[in-house]
Amino acid sequence: MAKTLHRLIVSVVVSALASIFFIAPAANADVSPMIVGGTRASTSTYPWVVYLASTSGSQFCGGTLTKANKVVTAAHCVKGRSAASTRVVHGRDDKQSTAGTVANVTKIWVHPSYTTATAGYDVAVLTLDRNISSATLPLATPSDTALYTAGNSALILGWGTTSSGGSASRYLLKANVPLTSDATCKSAYSQYSNTSMVCAGFPQGGVDTCQGDSGGPLVFGGKLIGDTSWGRGCAGAGYPGVYGRIAPYYSVINAQL
Ligand code: ARG
Repeated sequence: MAKTLHRLIVSVVVSALASIFFIAPAANADVSPMIVGGTRASTSTYPWVVYLASTSGSQFCGGTLTKANKVVTAAHCVKGRSAASTRVVHGRDDKQSTAGTVANVTKIWVHPSYTTATAGYDVAVLTLDRNISSATLPLATPSDTALYTAGNSALILGWGTTSSGGSASRYLLKANVPLTSDATCKSAYSQYSNTSMVCAGFPQGGVDTCQGDSGGPLVFGGKLIGDTSWGRGCAGAGYPGVYGRIAPYYSVINAQL
């Protein structure tokens, strides 16, 4: 009897301590939520950022509203998907809320040269079943070469994972990452091509897009300069994130808008 009571007291004390030492750090982790290394953002500040969801509402990629009924995203997000099984969610910071608009997709255009993300051309355009009354984000054009200068601090946004192999964010997150030079990106990735991709990240890592952010915007100078595409893990030192380069695709994308 005394032994049982003793065990009970021990287990209560142990679990109380455990809740201090193990649950408290988890709660602290929520104080600085991430893309990886990011902070919370609102779709009222960035009204053109959207997410792609399945018919059951599960978020799987990001995108950018570039016309009232057109969304630019990554080809790898939608290749092989039917338009009927794809939804675009606009104006919803919190995936667990019902805020904003859910549009159906009537058409999916994938860049005709796309094969895999690491080979480039990782861009697609979705046509929505309605016009969304919202600000849109202009595309970078071929004359916007200055937007791609190494060191420019570009904005990334998404609802993807907050660490490599981690779980997705409930809320929209944002961060800024510097564009890297072509040489820096090429030395990290032999597949890098400056005609179809652009890289961004700090040399020491720590801030990056990650799984589920794909298709979402890379923004500089008030224009869409890239769409989240690929990388080795997320936020690792020496491995920047790779984005589809929008300017070279301007004509072919604009023809879809
Ligand atoms: N492929 C990922 C996606 O589908 C995006 C990965 C971005 N990786 C990175 N290290 N920035 O969501």
